[in-house]
Amino acid sequence: RMRIIVDADPGIDDALALYYLRAQPETEIVAIGTVHGNVPVQQATANALRLTERLNLDVPVAMGAAKPLAQPLKTAEDVHGQDGLGGHAGDEPKTAHTKESAAEQLADKARENPGELSLLAIGPLTNVALALQIEPRLPQLLDKVVVMGGALNVPGNITSHAEANFWHDPEAADLVLAAGFEDLTIVGLDVTMEGHAPQEWLDALPDDCFPRRILGFYADFYASFLGKKGFVPHDPLAAAILCEPALATYHEDRFAIELTGRYTRGKIVADQRFLAADSPFGRDIATERTRAKYAVTADNAGFLARL
Ligand code: BDR
Ligand code: CA
Repeated sequence: RMRIIVDADPGIDDALALYYLRAQPETEIVAIGTVHGNVPVQQATANALRLTERLNLDVPVAMGAAKPLAQPLKTAEDVHGQDGLGGHAGDEPKTAHTKESAAEQLADKARENPGELSLLAIGPLTNVALALQIEPRLPQLLDKVVVMGGALNVPGNITSHAEANFWHDPEAADLVLAAGFEDLTIVGLDVTMEGHAPQEWLDALPDDCFPRRILGFYADFYASFLGKKGFVPHDPLAAAILCEPALATYHEDRFAIELTGRYTRGKIVADQRFLAADSPFGRDIATERTRAKYAVTADNAGFLARL
């Protein structure tokens, strides 16, 4: 049985990731942390609480970072709606978030359950970077870590090179890629854009179910630039790959985030150079960096059927 902490910025596709995990018999969500990103963190927190109520999920929800480590806050209401759930967030939540922050919660839970918890991070990585400051042994304390973010060999979705989650806090993402997590998987746009579910998939959802309602707004946004309706399942695909790593194939490498590029800030880069580390030209990315797996293909048909 896999026990998971989810760090998220709900967010329409974040909501679908929670629905997906909730439906897995062998998976348990033990805590949720929220972060700025799609919407301000107060809204993300209210949405996380609303989702736990809808899903009948009795787990702590901790409010996390309100802004990135080193740049001003920017949110994405154009993609997710003013309320982050496509205009369907609904009433105020009845439950409340915990007193501790999402970073403290992540550090505490990892310490209390060494080697037992996995992390699914589907928003900007600010909380995870802060948790590393609180508990430097976090990489050894967590089991698997799956991060949704990055555009390695495909265009970005927020600038031409950067994907939204990494772009929203590049410094935090780079700290996470350098931290030494033992089992780190990155699920980026290279596979999630390919996972596009067509309109017929949306049409097959029960008429008035909550996912169908919130997906309408998101589908319209994506249709405005993809030219086709449907659902791009970024966060739920990352959730599915955490539960079932064999859904994807991977490029294994060392990764970093471009922090100073004039046009490329927030882009993930891999150490693809073939020269030996001891050649006069060295490597592009320091060899002491964490090795991670970046998803390059995914069984999207199988995944969509399950979703
Ligand atoms: C990521 O950015 C957000 O809009 C989504 O929730 C997802 O986590 C995709 O780039
Ligand atoms: Ca997200």
